[in-house]
Amino acid sequence: MPQITPLFVTPLYRGRLSEHEPAIDTEELESSCYAIYEDDEAGQNWCEEHGYPGYTSYASLTDLPWRFPIFTDLVKSLDAHVADFATKLQLDLDGRDLILEDIWINILPEGGFHSAHIHPHSVISGTTYVAMPEGASAIKFEDPRHAMMMAAPPRRKDADEALRQFVYARPVVGDVLLWESWLRHEVPMNEADGERISVSFNYRWE
Ligand SMILES: [Fe+2]
Repeated sequence: MPQITPLFVTPLYRGRLSEHEPAIDTEELESSCYAIYEDDEAGQNWCEEHGYPGYTSYASLTDLPWRFPIFTDLVKSLDAHVADFATKLQLDLDGRDLILEDIWINILPEGGFHSAHIHPHSVISGTTYVAMPEGASAIKFEDPRHAMMMAAPPRRKDADEALRQFVYARPVVGDVLLWESWLRHEVPMNEADGERISVSFNYRWE
């Protein structure tokens, strides 16, 4: 029997916030996201000027974990998830740590989307999900080898997930998704009536 061995795999981590201390009340996190949004005029203006559909605190607030205790707690939990993922990735951190670089809020209304991108200057990136109304967008990951496909045929629609060139993950509230920061991803158009709220973050090697 010939053997097929998966090489150069692209691990996607999916955990639950509740797996690590401290406990995060996702309803409180949701109301905090709205309160921060309402106070963040600079962020609202940035989104309007840049045609950003919805709200992100990315360009305006760099200190969520210092200003808001629920974000302090959230980062403690995320630190544990990221450390766990780094172990599973078998990274040789050479005695150094992966530490939070940025963390920001995304509020995506109906019709909002976030086009494909990577997260430079980071090792691990991820998102935790705060509000996912019925029909809220998945997150779409893209095979990092696309540039090398050249004249190759696409995979069949029913191909095994590990062989697909695009994978849609459908997280629920309280999920934590992590991936290596070079992995290109996008949020397709949000077709839910309600707002899709997530908190994204980057970890760097220090
Ligand atoms: Fe992203």
